[in-house]
Amino acid sequence: MPVLGLTGYALEVPDLEVGAGFYTDAGLTAERTADQVILRCRASAQPVVVLAQSAGPMRLHHVRLRAEALDEIKDLVPRHGGTVVAPPEGFESEGLWVRDPHGVLFNLIDCAALSEVVAEPPFSINAPGRIVRVRQSAMLPVSSYQPVQPRRLGHVAMFTPDVMASVNFVCQALGMGLADRAQDIVAFCCATRNSDHHVLAFAKSPGTGLHHASFQVADPDEVGRAGHALAEKTGKGHWGFGRHTIGSNFFNYIQDPWGSWLEYYSDMDFIDDHALWQPTNYGMEDAMANWGPPVPSDFVHNYQAKTTA
Ligand SMILES: [Fe+2]
Repeated sequence: MPVLGLTGYALEVPDLEVGAGFYTDAGLTAERTADQVILRCRASAQPVVVLAQSAGPMRLHHVRLRAEALDEIKDLVPRHGGTVVAPPEGFESEGLWVRDPHGVLFNLIDCAALSEVVAEPPFSINAPGRIVRVRQSAMLPVSSYQPVQPRRLGHVAMFTPDVMASVNFVCQALGMGLADRAQDIVAFCCATRNSDHHVLAFAKSPGTGLHHASFQVADPDEVGRAGHALAEKTGKGHWGFGRHTIGSNFFNYIQDPWGSWLEYYSDMDFIDDHALWQPTNYGMEDAMANWGPPVPSDFVHNYQAKTTA
C-alpha cells in the first residue's frame, strides 16, 4: 500500500497576491517567500498549498502524496505508462517525482504522518424521537461566529482526458484503490488503509488540470457558513450547499480566481480497509450530487485545458 495519503498541491499562478488573497479569504494562513506563497491549514505546520509565480495562466504544477516503498513505486511507474522524472526547479527536491501517462506530476514523499486533527464536539441535532438539546439555542447571532478555518486538505480533483487510465495508474503504479465512480466520467480513489473515501478524484475533460481542492471543516453548519462567506468575498461562481451521493460529504464549492473550485466539506465516508470496500459504478444521476442547487454552467469547464494538454 505505497500511497498513504494526500499532503498538498502546488499551482503556478500569474499573480501571487491574488492567490494569497483568495486562500486567506478561504481561511488558510499565508507565508510569503521570495517567489512563492506557502499556505497552511489551522494549527498545521505542514504546507498544504504552494503557489509559485508564473508568466502564464494558472496551472496545476503537482500533487504531493505521502507514500512508503518509494523504490517499489519507482519500478511500477514505467510499467504502467508513467515516467520517473527529475525534481522540478523551484520546489523541494525530496522524494520521488513521477508523471502519469497524461503528464500530470506527482511528488511522493516518505514522511511521518501528518499531525492528527484534534477531535471536536459531535454535530448533533434534535431529531424526531431523539431530543439532544433542551432550553438552549443551537445557533448564536451571526456576529458571534469567527471566520471558519479549514482543518485539513481532504482531496484534490483533477481533469483528465481518460478517467479510467488515470485511475489505473494511481491504483496500479501508486498503490491506491478505486472507491467509486460514475461510468467513465468521474472516479474517486483512496489510500487503501484508513482513508477518506477519496483523496484523489478524476473528471473527464479534453485536457488535464485542477478541477477542485477540498478542505475539511467541522460540520455541515461550517460548510454552509464558510461557503457563504467566501462566495460573498469573491463574487464568482458558487455551488452549494448540497450533499454528494458518492462519498456522502456535504459540500459547498466556491470558484477560485482562475476558474477552478475550492470545496468545503464535512462528513465524508471513511474506508479503513479498501479490501473490504465494494466500489460502486453509479449512474450519471448520482455523479454530481444527491441534492443541492442547480450546477453552475461552467462547473466542469476546464479553463486550463489549452495550456496543460
Ligand atoms: Fe470534492
